[in-house]
Amino acid sequence: MVISAHGPGTRWLAALAPHQMLDVVGPLGRPFPLPKDPVHALLVGGGYGSAPLFMLADALRQRGCRVDMALGAASAERLFGALEARRVTNALSIATDDGSLGVQGRVTDAARSILERSNIDVIYACGPMPMLAALSTLGAEFDVMVQCAVEESMACGIGICMTCVLPVRGSDGVVRMSRSCVDGPIFAGDRVLWESIGTVPEETLGAPKASGH
Ligand code: FES
Repeated sequence: MVISAHGPGTRWLAALAPHQMLDVVGPLGRPFPLPKDPVHALLVGGGYGSAPLFMLADALRQRGCRVDMALGAASAERLFGALEARRVTNALSIATDDGSLGVQGRVTDAARSILERSNIDVIYACGPMPMLAALSTLGAEFDVMVQCAVEESMACGIGICMTCVLPVRGSDGVVRMSRSCVDGPIFAGDRVLWESIGTVPEETLGAPKASGH
């Protein structure tokens, strides 16, 4: 379990002593969908978003997939699991904003150069929303599906409180406010209305109509 101590709850968790007992509910939500065939996958992690990618890399390699990974963060100390990443992947690229590890730049630039030189079949990504949005655009440019684990605040985790909703276009073309905790946290990047996150777009099913109509 990887915790970034951001708020009261995660600070409390991070301060627990080893062997302290906790109640845990899980697993929650839907996992990364795995391909049926041995494909060439690119896994992209931003900051601590790399955390779920290691088990995914193992699962993909057990299926005969080739796994490239690109990790990025503001600086080397914000990067999680770079050593582990080397163990579970066929090739690893690292990018940091300040150049303290790997190449200086954004992880999306590293992803672009991998896409330019390799035949990537699918991208799996976890990290901040702007990174996921940029990768989804990149995926569309290279005609590659991007499976995104979204970074949304979640209160209940079981589909009741609606804290975690974001606008997602379904296969029927209809936009719905989808719950990251039960409908996600994995969404196809080309289905999420990234620029409208934090709002309820007017075309959303059940959205209040603008006054005067
Ligand atoms: S966290 Fe409560 S509905 Fe998703």
